[in-house]
Amino acid sequence: PPLRFDVLTLFPGLFEGFLSESILKRAIRRGLVSVDLWDIRRWALDKHRSVDDTPFGGGPGMLMMAPPVVSAVEAVRASFGDGPGRLIAMTPAGRRLDQAFVSELAGEPRIVLLCGRYEGFDQRIFDVLRPEALSIGDYVLSGGEVPAMAVIDAVMRLVPGVLGDERSALDESFGPDGGLEYPHYTRPRSYRGLGVPEVLLGGDHAAIDRWRRRHRREAGPPA
Ligand code: ADE
Repeated sequence: PPLRFDVLTLFPGLFEGFLSESILKRAIRRGLVSVDLWDIRRWALDKHRSVDDTPFGGGPGMLMMAPPVVSAVEAVRASFGDGPGRLIAMTPAGRRLDQAFVSELAGEPRIVLLCGRYEGFDQRIFDVLRPEALSIGDYVLSGGEVPAMAVIDAVMRLVPGVLGDERSALDESFGPDGGLEYPHYTRPRSYRGLGVPEVLLGGDHAAIDRWRRRHRREAGPPA
């Protein structure tokens, strides 16, 4: 069965390019991953389709209102045939995403990602839905959509069959250090007077492994 993501957002259009290019596109076409988008505005209650409002007590910006968000999550979950799924709200106040959590999520059948906009969520959204809260780093973005894409991207590439080369997800070079554990080279062989280490040009894989181990953590810009 595929790994299923359900994304609740005010801006489903932001995901269009993300879902229709490259590895994720192929994974979806192959039925390994699914991403369903749900526009929270569908669950707005008033004639103006409001989903946000000013904070009681004053302060800057707008908050996501509880009724549309809670109704959206409940309706989406009610449409599942297979349990409630794991509910995760994207917020800079959440626990920080890391590769260990990504691996944990890759073992889930169904992940519901709730994206906020504006200054944040009405507290009662957390009180009623009890989502996990997840941050992708200590900086503030203008919404949870880019963070949700980061989660989907990091998790889907661990799903068996998603990467062309099965080893890529396990290879240290694609691990938490971002594919930069040892220096990598591709064509051209000579560039601005800089060559490629001779050992990498030959077929001695034991020697290549030794070279890579020796040059571990030397990748990227000089410290
Ligand atoms: N929403 C806004 N900023 C965010 C962040 N850094 N992580 C997750 N969600 C967010």
